[in-house]
Amino acid sequence: MPARLFLSSGDLMADRRYEFARDLQLKGDLVAAADLLEQAVELAPEFASAWFTLGEIRRQLGEREAATAAFHEARAADPDDHHGATLYLMQLGAEEISAMPSAYVQVLFDQYAPRFESALVGDLGYRGPALLFKAALSVRSAAKKPAHFRRAIDLGCGTGLVASAFAGNVDRFVGIDLSPRMIEKSRATSFYAELEVADMLRGLRGKPETSADLILAADAMVYVADLAAVLSEAKRVLAAGGLFAFTAETHAGEGVIIGEGLRYAHAAAHVRAAVEAAGLKLPLLEDRSARNEDNIPVPGLVAVASKT
Ligand SMILES: C[S@@+](CC[C@H](N)C(=O)[O-])C[C@H]1O[C@@H](n2cnc3c(N)ncnc32)[C@H](O)[C@@H]1O
Repeated sequence: MPARLFLSSGDLMADRRYEFARDLQLKGDLVAAADLLEQAVELAPEFASAWFTLGEIRRQLGEREAATAAFHEARAADPDDHHGATLYLMQLGAEEISAMPSAYVQVLFDQYAPRFESALVGDLGYRGPALLFKAALSVRSAAKKPAHFRRAIDLGCGTGLVASAFAGNVDRFVGIDLSPRMIEKSRATSFYAELEVADMLRGLRGKPETSADLILAADAMVYVADLAAVLSEAKRVLAAGGLFAFTAETHAGEGVIIGEGLRYAHAAAHVRAAVEAAGLKLPLLEDRSARNEDNIPVPGLVAVASKT
């Protein structure tokens, strides 16, 4: 994963204690690391990086209440929440499931961009674009329609792997992504006629009605809690007969949860209900994993929703 985000406290002594604490954390001496971080936040009470790391360590130590308090402090010190304290608060059950902070997603993928493809495709066996390609073609073939699309929108386009997979089947690609550095990578591919740095929902809202035949989101809905909002906007933007194909991570329970990897996992029944509520059909919903973790496929879904 990307390098850790560090926001200086502005106090040299506090920053030094943070650095020592990180060394100790990496060596596994969590108690000593927590002690140093407590000293750091005493010196600099609004030191978001120290509060966040203290939250992580207390969580690792099984100190739920203390971890929750530290994550609250991290977010109070940095309301945009670049570290993603909100995700841990949701995971600890201290807060309801809500949207991921945009600043966190941006930092995560801006840092990740230079080695995204080697890390995801190389190390994690990433196969999201290939799964979407196969699923979209299979739905088209079952409907006895050509697998060619004039206008496609790639939500969370990242470095452009989806447009590369669909290049022979799409005339014009628009890419939308929150991370400027990921967009730079996509731009370098020349697969996209248009690229936009935006939240996918905001990006979709800016598109005219019935202006796309295909919408794709590979490994991107795992960063979206509220599928319903994106699905209903997708329905507006799709032309009749258009498809919205996406991957998701999933779990055996109900609704949406934050998984160990700090991504949302949507239950299959939840995906089905959200697609139906948006007024779309669901010609394909299959158990398919888009990536591995520790060499084990992460439970996942591939879905193709269609507009009649
Ligand atoms: C794991 S990458 C997948 C990239 C690409 N779809 C692929 O298959 O290689 C997830 C991408 O989604 C983007 N992303 C996450 N949440 C987003 C949101 N709400 N709006 C737009 N982009 C988002 C991230 O910045 C990142 O580039």
